[in-house]
Amino acid sequence: MQLWRKYSPLFSCCFTMLWSVTKTNTTTDQLTMLSLKSQVISNRFHFLDESWSLATSICHWVGVTCGSHHQRVKSLNLSNMALTGRIPCEFGNLSFLVSLDLERNNFQGNLSQEMAHLRRLKFLDLSY
Ligand SMILES: *[C@@H]1O[C@H](CO)[C@@H](O)[C@H](O)[C@H]1NC(C)=O
Ligand SMILES: *[C@@H]1O[C@H](CO)[C@@H](O)[C@H](O)[C@H]1NC(C)=O
Ligand SMILES: *[C@@H]1O[C@H](CO)[C@@H](O)[C@H](O)[C@H]1NC(C)=O
Ligand SMILES: *[C@@H]1O[C@H](CO)[C@@H](O)[C@H](O)[C@H]1NC(C)=O
Repeated sequence: MQLWRKYSPLFSCCFTMLWSVTKTNTTTDQLTMLSLKSQVISNRFHFLDESWSLATSICHWVGVTCGSHHQRVKSLNLSNMALTGRIPCEFGNLSFLVSLDLERNNFQGNLSQEMAHLRRLKFLDLSY
């Protein structure tokens, strides 16, 4: 019970995931990126505020590269951007993610279990 309470945000995240992991689409990627944006603070730079806007496709957001065919997030490179915050559990929904470079930032907390759903992920840099 103690354990459940301690980790309940993580667990509830996992449970919703079970129902939704099979079907993801471009809308999912958009929601995931917005979730990241809401949990990330850029102290030194403000380009995320300007660039990460729904006025443009997430494929044109700074640091995002989409696959040319599916228009799904294929790589995310936020290296050296002085970002603070957490990586949301929704990240496990970026089904087409191949490369994730978050080096040289100030992210905190744990990566969620849902990250294990990223079956295409080949490159992960969390250094510094
Ligand atoms: C994405 O999937 C959701 C359900 O998971 C659906 O409601 C939505 O219309 C889909 N969006 C696109 C662009 O296909
Ligand atoms: C991410 O961007 C930085 C700076 O442009 C670059 O040095 C690094 O190689 C990139 N990472 C990947 C995985 O492409
Ligand atoms: C994405 O993941 C979160 C939590 O991991 C979940 O609540 C949400 O329903 C997922 N969305 C889709 C469309 O898979
Ligand atoms: C990260 O996970 C470890 C091991 O499960 C746990 O002890 C710790 O409290 C977690 N940290 C956060 C910030 O959730």
